[in-house]
Amino acid sequence: MTMTPQEPFVDIHCHLLPGLDDGPATFDAALSMAERAVSEGIRTIVATPHQLGSHRHNTGAVVQETASRLQAALDQRGVPLRVLPGGEMRIEPDLIQSLRAGQTLTLANRRRHVLIELPTDVYLPLDRLLSDLHASGLVAILAHPERNRGLQRSPELLRPLVRHGCLLQITAGSLVGHLGDHARQLAEKLVQQGLVHFVATDAHDTHNRPPAFQEAFRRVGELAGQETALEICCHNPASVAAGGDVVVGVRQIATKRTNLTFRLFQTFFSETMVRWPIKQKHSVEPFLRM
Ligand SMILES: [Fe+2]
Repeated sequence: MTMTPQEPFVDIHCHLLPGLDDGPATFDAALSMAERAVSEGIRTIVATPHQLGSHRHNTGAVVQETASRLQAALDQRGVPLRVLPGGEMRIEPDLIQSLRAGQTLTLANRRRHVLIELPTDVYLPLDRLLSDLHASGLVAILAHPERNRGLQRSPELLRPLVRHGCLLQITAGSLVGHLGDHARQLAEKLVQQGLVHFVATDAHDTHNRPPAFQEAFRRVGELAGQETALEICCHNPASVAAGGDVVVGVRQIATKRTNLTFRLFQTFFSETMVRWPIKQKHSVEPFLRM
């Protein structure tokens, strides 16, 4: 069954910029990735080269300049794709300071959402970082928790994180089995439990880790319904790209069994209250004032 959205995908995690990390090595390779992304229905990519860790050379200025050059090349070729600057950040003690200094970038450079990544093998407690980001008017998006071995062993750690205000992004390839059974199983479980706020490609090339979205969108629809698929593949990522709010918390998934109760409940409460019991309340002002 083919199920495509009525609106474009927005990819908030993609290693599209050439020559900065383990993404494409050349502009031509990046343009091929961009064309593949467009063929998948993606119209906006927040380019997220690795930052901090062993990629401290990817400063905010370098990322913005490279994104602008790539956008110009895309425009010249008539490729209908918007590229925005961002970053995928290693968790380091100076993460917040680096954001304030412009050494690293928030997603789409909107000073709102920060894409953070854990080491692959272990889970590091995130409560302190989440609180510090919150105090600075920023919201953390945890990249691909389903691929972290510590979280694969202890997935129960994720629900408290989400309740603490962390947003979760799973990788499209995980959902369709391209990144192993453990990642697929956890990704599916998280979608069904309403703990996922974004699907993104985390693409690096056109072959091994391409910017593929359609199959994952269809899989989310099977697992949690079309409305959820649109929310986490289109609407929420579009809000991040625009610097808008994404409501935090656990999403209520309306399964067939609960559908009648869910619909009755919706009659009495606003859609936002039912689907997202916890609303994001902080302001961006503290960060902007620095
Ligand atoms: Fe990544």
